[in-house]
Amino acid sequence: MEIIREHRKYVIPEIITGDNSRIYAGRYTKNFHSGSVLIATDDNIFCQKWIRDILQSLDDAGTEYVVFSDIEENPRNYNVMAGADVYLSEECTGILAIGGGSVLDCAKGIGIIATNGGTIMDYIGVDKVQNPTPPLICVPTTAGSGADVSQYAVICDTVHKTKNLIISKSLVPDVSLLDTIPLLTQPDSVTIYSGIDSFTHAMEAYVSNGASHLSDMLALESMTISAGLFPFSGDKTDDYDFRFQSLMASMYSGIAFSNAGVGLIHAMSHAIGAVFDLPHGLASCIAMQSVIPYNYSSSKRKYRKIAGIMGVSPHISDDEQIIAAMVEKITEMRGRPDDRLTLSEYGASVDNIPYLVAHAASDPCIATNPRITDADDLTHLFEGVL
Ligand SMILES: [Fe+2]
Repeated sequence: MEIIREHRKYVIPEIITGDNSRIYAGRYTKNFHSGSVLIATDDNIFCQKWIRDILQSLDDAGTEYVVFSDIEENPRNYNVMAGADVYLSEECTGILAIGGGSVLDCAKGIGIIATNGGTIMDYIGVDKVQNPTPPLICVPTTAGSGADVSQYAVICDTVHKTKNLIISKSLVPDVSLLDTIPLLTQPDSVTIYSGIDSFTHAMEAYVSNGASHLSDMLALESMTISAGLFPFSGDKTDDYDFRFQSLMASMYSGIAFSNAGVGLIHAMSHAIGAVFDLPHGLASCIAMQSVIPYNYSSSKRKYRKIAGIMGVSPHISDDEQIIAAMVEKITEMRGRPDDRLTLSEYGASVDNIPYLVAHAASDPCIATNPRITDADDLTHLFEGVL
């Protein structure tokens, strides 16, 4: 392992893993003296049977709750502000977020407004959150976003077509309850793209210029688990072991990227997602087809290690062949090995490229990419997946 003696800082929440760990929600609201919590969720999740156990745990703890479920995929700035209005008007003292990455990111945004005021767009960027946010308990229902363990939140502005990153240690949840059961109800497409998102977090954290021993260790273990889980097949839908392993892979990659940063795949993916409103994992899948070949030479030893984890034959020694095989493995993870993804499938044209380039160039994720990237490079990278 590479010796890294530069200073590194780690922020990590309290984590409970295991089947039915969601029932600790009530105990933690009590520990946090939250007399009333805002449950941030969405309507599809809140009608699931396993929600009842969470509500029972809140009742047992004597915690009152109000439900806010008006949260869209790729959460909007107005979703955050509407949730904050409910939080403040109901005089809540904590947040219980139950959902995928979109719900968890929105819940973090609500927490920012609850204790800092203003609008959520005031906090876009790095370390802009001054006051501590309310206690946040997360029950993730997907395995991949890492939002349940990270200091990141992504909020969309649909008017200006921007997907905006907020990074602050205030956004690290207080508790993450990693329960297998809520994952059983997610659609297969969500399982696939969340899993690829998790793999992307691990890959980008591993080659990041902010990497460390801890993030490397977690990233490698996460990729190893994910490589054994994907491509996904429908017979795994009710497989508890599959779900639990995917949660662990997501937790490891989430801690890795939260502390080491991500890179160019995410900078491009946020731009793509902002313009075409695609699922985040899908947008990352498109971007990495360009980014892996572009970044490879800047961190060759680590990319070769990733290639081995992905199942690229150790007998291939030619770099160009390794790169091609890695890109092929990504499309295999989607379960569609012959299907190269393009932006034009989703309505993109050359006219979109200047905006995509400008958006990606201003994304904080680009700062930890192992290769310094300018606007010309970004133009070629987007053209490469058009
Ligand atoms: Fe991501």
